Amino acid sequence: MAESLKNAKPLDFWINGKHVVDPNPDPEETLLSYIRTKLGLTGSKLGCGEGGCGACTVVSSTYSLDSAKVAYTSVNACLVPLCSVDGKHIITIEGIGSSSQPHPTQEVIARHHGSQCGFCTPGIVASLYTLTKNHPNPTEEEIEEAFDGNLCRCTGYRSIFKGAKTFAVDSPLSKVCARACAAGGECSSKSCIGDTPSGAGDVETCTGPSLLKAAKDIPFPEELIKRLQTEATSPTASSYVFANESIRWHHPSTLPELLSLMESNPHAKIVFGNTEIGIETKFKGVQYPIQISAVDIKELKNVVVRADNSGVEVGAGTTLSDFGTLLKAFIKEHGEQKTRGFKALLDNLKWFAGNQIRNVACIAGNIVTASPISDLNPVFVAMGAVLKVQSTKREREIPMKNFFLGYRKTALERSEVVVSIFLPFTGRDEYVRAFKQARRRDDDIAIVNAGLRVKLSHESDGTWKVSDACFSFGGMAPTTVQAKGAQEKIVGSQWGESLKERLVSWVGEDLHLPYNVPGGQAQYRRTLAMSFIQKFHIYITGIVGTLEEPLQSAVELSERPVSTGRQEYVATSKESTIQVGKEVMHIAAMKQVTGEAFYLDDIPRMANELYAVLVQSTVAHGKIKSIDASAALAHKGVRAFIAANDIPEYIHRKNHGHDPNLIGPGVKDEELFATEKVLHVGQMIGLIIAETEIIARKAVRLVTVQYETLEPILTIEDAIAASSYMPVTRTLNTGEFTTDSSGKVTDPVWTRDDPSSPKVPLAQAKHHVSGTMRMAAQEQFYLETNASLVYVKPEGDIEIFASTQHPTETQHMVAHVLGTPSNRVTVRVKRMGGGFGGKESRSVFLTCALAVASKKLNAPVRCMLTREEDMTISGMRHPFRGDYRVGFTEDGKLVSLELEIYSNAGYSMDLSLSILERAITHSDNTYYIPNVKILGRMCRTNLPTNTAFRGFGGPQGMHIAETYITHVADYLNKPVEEIRELNFYKTNQLTHFRQPLEDVYFDRVWTKLMDRSSFSSRRKEIALFNEKNAFKKRGIAAMPTKFGIAFTARWLNQAGSSVLVYTDGSVLVHHGGTTEMGQGLHTKMVQVAANALGIPVEKVYINETSTATVPNTSATAASASSDLNGMAVLDACQQIAERLKPYRAKNPTGTWEQIVSQAYMDRCDLSAHGFYKTPDLSYDWGTNSGRMYNYFVYGAAVTEVEIDCLTGDHVVLRSDIMMDIGQSLNPSIDVGQIEGAFAQGQGWTTIEEPLISPTTGVAWTRGPGAYKIPGFRDVPAEFNVYFVKESQNKRAIHSSKAIGEPPLFMGASVFYAIRDAIKAARRDQGLDGPFELFSPASSERIRLAVGDKNVDATKFSAEELKVKPWSAMA
Ligand SMILES: Cc1cc2nc3c(=O)[nH]c(=O)nc-3n(C[C@H](O)[C@H](O)[C@H](O)COP(=O)(O)OP(=O)(O)OC[C@H]3O[C@@H](n4cnc5c(N)ncnc54)[C@H](O)[C@@H]3O)c2cc1C
Ligand code: FES
Ligand code: FES
Repeated sequence: MAESLKNAKPLDFWINGKHVVDPNPDPEETLLSYIRTKLGLTGSKLGCGEGGCGACTVVSSTYSLDSAKVAYTSVNACLVPLCSVDGKHIITIEGIGSSSQPHPTQEVIARHHGSQCGFCTPGIVASLYTLTKNHPNPTEEEIEEAFDGNLCRCTGYRSIFKGAKTFAVDSPLSKVCARACAAGGECSSKSCIGDTPSGAGDVETCTGPSLLKAAKDIPFPEELIKRLQTEATSPTASSYVFANESIRWHHPSTLPELLSLMESNPHAKIVFGNTEIGIETKFKGVQYPIQISAVDIKELKNVVVRADNSGVEVGAGTTLSDFGTLLKAFIKEHGEQKTRGFKALLDNLKWFAGNQIRNVACIAGNIVTASPISDLNPVFVAMGAVLKVQSTKREREIPMKNFFLGYRKTALERSEVVVSIFLPFTGRDEYVRAFKQARRRDDDIAIVNAGLRVKLSHESDGTWKVSDACFSFGGMAPTTVQAKGAQEKIVGSQWGESLKERLVSWVGEDLHLPYNVPGGQAQYRRTLAMSFIQKFHIYITGIVGTLEEPLQSAVELSERPVSTGRQEYVATSKESTIQVGKEVMHIAAMKQVTGEAFYLDDIPRMANELYAVLVQSTVAHGKIKSIDASAALAHKGVRAFIAANDIPEYIHRKNHGHDPNLIGPGVKDEELFATEKVLHVGQMIGLIIAETEIIARKAVRLVTVQYETLEPILTIEDAIAASSYMPVTRTLNTGEFTTDSSGKVTDPVWTRDDPSSPKVPLAQAKHHVSGTMRMAAQEQFYLETNASLVYVKPEGDIEIFASTQHPTETQHMVAHVLGTPSNRVTVRVKRMGGGFGGKESRSVFLTCALAVASKKLNAPVRCMLTREEDMTISGMRHPFRGDYRVGFTEDGKLVSLELEIYSNAGYSMDLSLSILERAITHSDNTYYIPNVKILGRMCRTNLPTNTAFRGFGGPQGMHIAETYITHVADYLNKPVEEIRELNFYKTNQLTHFRQPLEDVYFDRVWTKLMDRSSFSSRRKEIALFNEKNAFKKRGIAAMPTKFGIAFTARWLNQAGSSVLVYTDGSVLVHHGGTTEMGQGLHTKMVQVAANALGIPVEKVYINETSTATVPNTSATAASASSDLNGMAVLDACQQIAERLKPYRAKNPTGTWEQIVSQAYMDRCDLSAHGFYKTPDLSYDWGTNSGRMYNYFVYGAAVTEVEIDCLTGDHVVLRSDIMMDIGQSLNPSIDVGQIEGAFAQGQGWTTIEEPLISPTTGVAWTRGPGAYKIPGFRDVPAEFNVYFVKESQNKRAIHSSKAIGEPPLFMGASVFYAIRDAIKAARRDQGLDGPFELFSPASSERIRLAVGDKNVDATKFSAEELKVKPWSAMA
């Protein structure tokens, strides 16, 4: 070690053009943590910490002395070790531009409404910036690819693409104004007309490409170039070492140095991209005390074509991005025949992680990790690649096929370094293909992948025989594995159709998986392996023989064209003085795109601030036998372990019947800190409080908790079997159904007594179908996790900054826990990085716990949950099960619905009752059913409490409705659209909860959309396509929605506001809509206020939400925030406007400022409090009477998809949405809400599947690595949104309608289109009639539902099914 220390020096790098020198860099720190906490550059965000979301993206720029050029790469700062940036120039969002001087990449995203909550936005801008720096003239396709390592949970991506494509040379958008005109703002050049530059001058200044050309970027630091020049003169000039107490980080610069370090430190770990090691050290608690960075070792990047022209040797330290570029160049240079293996590698690289990961991860990193699902290893093995490994003692070659010895075990010996990999060229009749199936196409690890190779010989009789083969698979064993039996048996076989079935079954026999195999999906994985080889056989047959047209569809992946879309609506003209209805840009957009927008964890650290980390339960159900925090407390820098006993006067208050440790919205049935029992994995038992986050996270691993484990109840089915329910049920009976207390049907009770709602006797139901719809949970996956900063001041006032949708609930609960009046607690929220319901009630827990710690330690305490903590504690959308029996007439008219609905509530009540109520009241969707009998139950299970998520039970109810209506259609063998139309509600008909549907624009929405989407002609085209394609099927679905607006808890339907006018004419608004989480609420409220006061929107400001300004607010939820708060703001503004009337009358030409000033001088009150409560709401469940909802929002969607019948993969080709949302307050924001909600609905019903262990209750899906939300290229390739122009709504502000939740269910049209495609595939297999498809329609469910020979061959026997599977839907 001593020799390596001789180069010890400070860490020395540049950031945004500024030199940073740190004498004591911490080798355990990431670049993200350093720039945020030490440099105060908080623009880059922490969304996951595991390279899976891109929120932390920054740009790393390097200078090549050879080419004298700067190269830019986007990287995930959350995984980049701080020590690895020595000698680099890092550009963060702050260096790209500021709101006063934005870079064009920032400007276009803001102006095209590409940010909502804005938490993902700096990372997205950084990716776009990187692309434009390397490719100043990108194509649309390159732009779409540039974002494959970024996620956004709010926008639905279309608007981001639109902004970015203003730079695309092949996009018409690059010809129109990218500036203010495009966004409805004032024209910056003052000469444009609309969005078309009016003359050559404007084209020069205002289009995306010209803005880019004119942009001023930070130059690469001259000083750094000089340093690089100096270092180039000595091979070891850049060798150094950094160390802290536990880790030593070496940075050798030559291969001999690396080898010698490995020799003297046999337990050292080579670090390259850190994308694997970073995950191990951060999330698995692995420690590598000696780490050796190999990133700057030139010898590991050598590329040589072998002298005998047999192939290429590529340096093992080549990054995957560079590897891709090299492969493309080799393919071009050496031709198709020799480079078939290279093409296969390239095919898999396309779907390997995201750009940011590929930019840093290297080939050796992927190989040596020995992951059983590595994307490259199966192809390396199949193509016969050979590794060159070296140590100080020897150099040797290891064929890839012999490299993997067991799970994560390789043939590499200690001290050996992988130097290069030899990639052989393919022979003339040798073919290689790669296959991969993942949950999501982009940036996802494989479920199964394969590298398949055959070598053929052409026989004299014209036939082809197999002379050699290698079939290598990932995801089918603990290592990359070969189907050895199949490989042997195939040699000598004649290629032909008859070989196919044998080959498929040989592979099936070779690759058996037990039902409970780790990773789950046993049958699917086996089916995939067999289907890959089937595809391969068809592919080769196409080359050596002839392939019938329908079979060709097996060969390639379904293509997703570059995306397009239309948005059609009417907006108030930008010149108008009417401010509502305008396309006003999100008021924080420029701050979001420049990283200036502040979120909770961006608040600068206070003096003495401490950090809290949760001690969480590791068992789902158990008695706590002991808790030992002594080792953690002994750790340097740890201040306390906080638990229930630390709550002020805990025992005393508990003994007097006011247990302060019991909290919960409505029913207080949850412990803040678990005391005697734990009821789910992840439950909070206590907190470790330390001086820094790093210390707290280390110390929390030292806390030991002993449990006596008890049997958990986890799934809905477990709960039904154990009758484990919450004490309340909900029933809703109308028509001939009513039941006595035992559930028996008694006399008819026609609760619907309106003549327009016909009473139809049950006897008219000639047919019945019954079935079950089961749907999974959905994680909110707001990009900003729950976070809080609490300071209990010495005099007792409590100041709280929280990322919460419910400041008032937070205030009340903290007051309850600490035993203090609410007037001593102030909760402040600036903005949130998304909420979607997940921060409505669950955010409160973290804040209450921090309040206890802060009170006890007399210091501010902060915590931002890791993604994993957040996902294991904060609950999700409720999983539901609907058991239905539907009666209907010969022609499909619905007569009756009997429905039992079960939700998985988790371990406590939370908001489950209201969610169940909404599910029950939406289980009709848009269909009139005369006789309805519903029983709703909430299952009590040992899971985190499930909670609100956009739609709040409504989508679950509608999903059940669409399932039974589809079932009826399948039973009658009629098109489902016909059955839908037949049963649509008519205006003024009563719902099953007896609310008349006034102002139904629904029929118009439907007919218009069917027309706009050319539904009928496309249906015919799809039938034709399906005839011509055996293995690809298309499906289409037209689907309606009806969504009730209002909180079902009546008292929540109220709001207050405060409007303050200052003497300079500026206006400050506070409203009870509490919080801005991306939905544009503040923007709309600013418009409402500006409109009411007759002033431009720029004069109105909303600084934050605080319980000290508007009291007793409801949560920002239920889509009703604009309705309620808009009215409250309007009320306050109207009061002020009324008071200003006399001054306006006196001075009709006076400016707003003059009027305000005159009023002030005249001692006129320039502030007002506004209030609003929704009238008429009065529903009573006991009598099924009264008004439940204020009004309804209607919509419809038509979606077309294509599925791959052999893999279960799907692409969404087109979606059209028509929404009846009244007169929009801000069409751009509303379009964004529709597109974002659609994407969430699409994710919920397709790729998002939270999975748990059915034995232990551990969640398998705890971060973006395993839980996939839709990415940029998942949303419809063509995405059209239309508003119903003539729609009015007398029951909400300015005739608008709520928009947050109603469109979410439209995303389920993807599910029903997939179902339609599966139906076509099943028909080919001779499987007609109804079939069951649970939600989400994952690739697994799609593949298995297709139901072919491979599926039959992989079915498990009854005996094999006796064990519990590895994973289950809760
Ligand atoms: C968000 C995310 C997405 C991912 N997606 C995919 C995916 O789609 N497909 C896939 O296959 N993988 C994926 N991975 C896994 C990972 O990115 C790859 O395995 C990657 O190639 C690792 O390379 P690295 O340079 O970052 O390795 P590191 O983490 O730096 O090192 C990994 C291992 O390789 C060893 N090592 C590195 N270089 C050498 C060398 N020259 N000689 C000997 N040992 C060496 C290290 O000691 C360590 O054991 C993903 C990871 C993340 C975080
Ligand atoms: S925070 Fe780095 S990728 Fe998510
Ligand atoms: S705007 Fe992208 S996550 Fe919110």
